[in-house]
Amino acid sequence: MTMTASEFDCIRRLVLEESAIVLEADKQYLAESRLLPLARREGFDSISSLIASLVPKKFDGLHRKVVEAMTTNETSFFRDFHPFEALRKSILPEFIMRRASSKELNFWSAACSSGQEPYSLVMLLQNEFPSLADWNVRIVASELSTEMLARAQEGRYSQLEVNRGLPASLLVKYFQQHGSDWQIREDLRRQVEFRTVNLAENWPPLPPMDVVLMRNVLIYFGLDTKKRILGRVRQLLRPDGFLFLGGTETTFNLDDAFERVRFDRTICYQVRKA
Ligand SMILES: C[S@@+](CC[C@H](N)C(=O)[O-])C[C@H]1O[C@@H](n2cnc3c(N)ncnc32)[C@H](O)[C@@H]1O
Repeated sequence: MTMTASEFDCIRRLVLEESAIVLEADKQYLAESRLLPLARREGFDSISSLIASLVPKKFDGLHRKVVEAMTTNETSFFRDFHPFEALRKSILPEFIMRRASSKELNFWSAACSSGQEPYSLVMLLQNEFPSLADWNVRIVASELSTEMLARAQEGRYSQLEVNRGLPASLLVKYFQQHGSDWQIREDLRRQVEFRTVNLAENWPPLPPMDVVLMRNVLIYFGLDTKKRILGRVRQLLRPDGFLFLGGTETTFNLDDAFERVRFDRTICYQVRKA
């Protein structure tokens, strides 16, 4: 049940056009393993018939499902730990002093997958910085995948998911148990503004950002897309704001207007002062 080279090419083109994700030539096995379950769910007897039904039609729900099936949604609570430690120990205490008169802080979790990243941030703020309670704190979380965005908005996680990175004390404090699942409390969910955003296309109006978490998503894009997106992040960041990328990602050789800033065991980026 394998795809032909031209079928794979058709998927690569669709995914590139709609999400900017570059599927390398050696990723055919990945496409097959992701599209076979989708083909079955949608009532096709093979991946080939799924692809054949895409070709003559304009972009519709099925095209979107194919694109979403090709996204990698791996995430976890407090992923990589050290970026959150940098926020807790250094960045947030400093911002709380600097923004004492405006009492305003803005965060963006770009490509938030199923929501563990923005909720980690909400828990960190609530648990460690109670003085922010009367501040105007905006946390925007965005995703390309409508399925992931719906999961994030629901904030409901399996036992396996809450076992990954979430301290038991925070689970008990901020989640309610529903059968074998855990749902983050509604008052925390309401603190996050969820949006559909394709990073490769126009962004909706966003406020000037103090912290942008854009982690583990640029890796899927081509060079020009990465450069374009980093240039737009630069416009959006406040002059003393911070950008966090994933552990294998960097601005180096893509946008040298950013400089690396190290906090203990993590690196983040700030716009270089002129
Ligand atoms: C590996 S997850 C990263 C989740 C989270 N940021 C983290 O580091 O744990 C990558 C996410 O990027 C999203 N994504 C892929 N292409 C995108 C695009 N063009 N615009 C916005 N999000 C995209 C995928 O749907 C996926 O949920």
